[in-house]
Amino acid sequence: MEPAALQSVEAKGARIPLLGLGTWDLRGRTCARIVEQALRLGYRHIDTAQLYENEREVGEGLRNAGVRRDDVFITTKIWPSHFSPPELDRAAKERLVRLRLSEVDLLLLHWPNPRIPLAETLGALCKVKEEGLARHIGVSNFTVSMLDEASKLTTEPLVCNQIEVHPFLDQSKVIAACRRQGMAVVAYSPIARGEAKNDAVLTNIGRAHKKTAAQVCLRYLVQQDIVVIPRTSKLDRLVENAALFDFALSDTEMADIAGLARPDGRVVDYSYEGAPKWD
Ligand SMILES: NC(=O)c1ccc[n+]([C@@H]2O[C@H](COP(=O)([O-])OP(=O)(O)OC[C@H]3O[C@@H](n4cnc5c(N)ncnc54)[C@H](OP(=O)(O)O)[C@@H]3O)[C@@H](O)[C@H]2O)c1
Repeated sequence: MEPAALQSVEAKGARIPLLGLGTWDLRGRTCARIVEQALRLGYRHIDTAQLYENEREVGEGLRNAGVRRDDVFITTKIWPSHFSPPELDRAAKERLVRLRLSEVDLLLLHWPNPRIPLAETLGALCKVKEEGLARHIGVSNFTVSMLDEASKLTTEPLVCNQIEVHPFLDQSKVIAACRRQGMAVVAYSPIARGEAKNDAVLTNIGRAHKKTAAQVCLRYLVQQDIVVIPRTSKLDRLVENAALFDFALSDTEMADIAGLARPDGRVVDYSYEGAPKWD
């Protein structure tokens, strides 16, 4: 992988590699193997979560790859049913046991939980950071108003909001709110769960650059300093999804891709009851 693929964004003291590997739905041997392969190829950022039930395998892949711990950025997330302070503390410690790490680089609140006061949850999350269990903390699936509330309540910097971002969804308002607060935007489902590969606009732009539609889709995001964490279970796609830093999209191409957004563009199921209304 080109050294350029190690580009990163800085947010409130955190340096987050622009490219990471998503691991939702990757289990067992497949997960450990793909994490190891990604790290051997040069990926330096892995995204997991309590919910994914694969932290043991992510840790195994990390150890098997033989990379220095300090060179890899590991993110995990705590599920909202563990947001009361004692449970959050317990869940954070359990993440480290499963990963077999002494600290994670980034620990996120996975979704908002309207049943537990945010002040209490953030207080517990800040304490986890102060105890040295997480180098950085942040949130995921937070709306504009929740970001405003969180920024007033937190005593430690919240370095990112991990949200669904890809060309088929207009997330400009929440992205602008992250920027205002100096937070990084981490895009999940950055190729819209594979939908990008079938899009004619992305395919045509790709033809001009000798790139695939998925690469154009990911480039569109990293060119805006948005961190991407595409998931794949396939070695050839690990390589494909990392080849983003040897071409650039023109302003016209960026505008054409932005024009793909549509009201029903969301790909992640919003049926989780704590899921917020976006504003
Ligand atoms: N914070 C949250 O609430 C949240 C929610 C959703 C996801 N996430 C995180 O974000 C990560 C990525 O999102 P995601 O897994 O939902 O979707 P995604 O990365 O947009 O898409 C993954 C799908 O696209 C396929 N794919 C990968 N590379 C491809 C390529 N180059 N061409 C065509 N198809 C390709 C994969 O299949 P193959 O395996 O066959 O390649 C897989 O089916 C997750 O794994 C997870 O870590 C976080």
